[in-house]
Amino acid sequence: MKTQVCSIVYAFIFFLLILTISSSVGAQSCKPSGKLRGKKPPPGQCNTENDSECCEEGKLYTTFKCSPPVGSRTKAVLTLNSFEKGGDGGGPSECDNKFHADDTPVVALSTGWFNNQKRCLKNITIHGNGRSVEAMVVDECDSTMGCDEDHDFQPPCPNHIVDASEAVWKALGVPKKDRGNLDIFWSDA
Ligand SMILES: *[C@@H]1O[C@H](CO)[C@@H](O)[C@H](O)[C@H]1NC(C)=O
Ligand SMILES: *[C@@H]1O[C@H](CO)[C@@H](O)[C@H](O)[C@H]1NC(C)=O
Repeated sequence: MKTQVCSIVYAFIFFLLILTISSSVGAQSCKPSGKLRGKKPPPGQCNTENDSECCEEGKLYTTFKCSPPVGSRTKAVLTLNSFEKGGDGGGPSECDNKFHADDTPVVALSTGWFNNQKRCLKNITIHGNGRSVEAMVVDECDSTMGCDEDHDFQPPCPNHIVDASEAVWKALGVPKKDRGNLDIFWSDA
């Protein structure tokens, strides 16, 4: 009888241990912070130029407050954006309240990597297509919100995006027709 009670207690302690280990492993990875339901943009309100995506009515979009940890080779997806006035980036850049010409190498980072403006006006090095380029962080690609006027009626940004100007793509030697989506690595310059 006594040994039976003991083994139940041991089994329970073992179970607690597994639970603790698995939750501390989980805390290191970045989990979604929520979801938002897409609203249809008012007529003519979403700019689909350069592969920009517009929100769809009723579709659920995942939001993030964090991004994967940054190392010397942080994996990301490079996307194309215009930081010019009237471009698909919407208003002026968050870091300096200015617009930036398509021929200057600038980027927006997903919310977690943007890190409350801590990377503002700092350079990152982007490795892709067998080349590398330095670009300045000027804006946030908002992973926490989207599908509203402030975000050009586009969905929230995934949490692993480096959204780059035309100049970055050009420096990486990607032909015009292939610009839009590329697996890259980046690091702080
Ligand atoms: C699309 O890309 C072209 C080429 O860089 C650029 O001139 C144009 O401003 C972009 N359009 C928008 C809406 O960003
Ligand atoms: C940041 O990158 C830009 C564009 O490549 C370059 O002109 C500038 O000198 C760099 N700034 C620093 C501090 O390295």
